[in-house]
Amino acid sequence: MKAFEITGKFGIAQVRARTVERAPLGAGQVRVRMRANSLNYRDLMMIEGQYNPRQPLPLVPLSDGAGEIVEVGPGVTERQVGDRVVGLFAQGWLDGDFNKDHQRHTLGGPLPGMLQEEAVLDQHGVFVPPAHLDDAQAATLPCAALTAYSALAVLGDVGPGQTVLCLGTGGVSMFALAFAKALGARVIVTSSADEKLERARALGADETINYKAEARWDKIARDMTDGVGVDHVVEVGGAGTINLSLSAVRPSGRVSLIGVLAGGDSQPNLTQALMKQVCVQGVFVGHRRGFAQMCQLIEAHQIVPQVSAHHPVDEVQDALGLMKRGGHFGKICLTW
Ligand SMILES: NC(=O)c1ccc[n+]([C@@H]2O[C@H](COP(=O)([O-])OP(=O)(O)OC[C@H]3O[C@@H](n4cnc5c(N)ncnc54)[C@H](OP(=O)(O)O)[C@@H]3O)[C@@H](O)[C@H]2O)c1
Repeated sequence: MKAFEITGKFGIAQVRARTVERAPLGAGQVRVRMRANSLNYRDLMMIEGQYNPRQPLPLVPLSDGAGEIVEVGPGVTERQVGDRVVGLFAQGWLDGDFNKDHQRHTLGGPLPGMLQEEAVLDQHGVFVPPAHLDDAQAATLPCAALTAYSALAVLGDVGPGQTVLCLGTGGVSMFALAFAKALGARVIVTSSADEKLERARALGADETINYKAEARWDKIARDMTDGVGVDHVVEVGGAGTINLSLSAVRPSGRVSLIGVLAGGDSQPNLTQALMKQVCVQGVFVGHRRGFAQMCQLIEAHQIVPQVSAHHPVDEVQDALGLMKRGGHFGKICLTW
């Protein structure tokens, strides 16, 4: 069967297809015939050697994939041949607090990822996605969607009357927009591009700010909340944006620390965080129970993930290049 691997060294050009042996199924395992993958920024970092420079190679990359179960191993009781499933990012994290062991069992590094014709997963490491989603849309759920849901609804408590600030229009942020609206909140979205802000407004964003044109978007966000500050920031920028996020949030508000997109090496303003009694919450995707709750919300509101680019799987290098340029809105998907 066909599998893509990061071969001898890191880099987008090193992601290549090869033919590999089908692994036999062990107890409790299922074989998933891949139909679609989605890209995450983590995949790009993993492929370029920035996520974990000590990751042993070769590695099958990508955390997200959707497909159909074509074989079940001995002792499988939860799933059957023909089930349409997605793989869960943190394979062993069913519920409860996050620990080191969960971190060691994530798809697309350190475990083999989903950019392969068939993936072998534990029966508890797959989940049936909402029926109204096509394969590519379903493939967007395991990382970006669950991260946004965990931030807002598992670790956070977003609801009516609150204002959520989403940074940029990438995968995590566009799910945060959809979920925050479904939970009854008001949403502010920032972007470097006016046309992307227009798209965000069409999806329900109440207010938008171009962060390239408005370097002090934190002040504008505060003005949009009568000077109080937003209740929750979906912080995907990291060092380059954290101080503006801490400035934009209200006293006793919450900043979900998720990503590192903006680069930079500025020190977080700890005084501001403590004087405002801000809750700064790290988020590591999420657990299976959160995934199940998220699917209920997606179903109840018939939420459709935003996929702005579909590529055949053989164009994976082009798709990664598009992500690196930030040329997408929401998600980029690959189809088999
Ligand atoms: N902690 C976790 O569990 C977890 C899970 C998933 C992702 N992440 C991390 O979260 C981040 C987002 O991931 P993703 O997959 O959603 O990425 P993505 O889809 O590649 O997001 C790209 C978008 O981010 C926006 N962006 C870039 N620099 C920005 C800045 N300085 N300020 C505001 N927005 C900026 C841009 O939006 P515009 O084009 O609109 O400007 C860009 O198009 C990444 O760092 C990723 O590693 C973490």
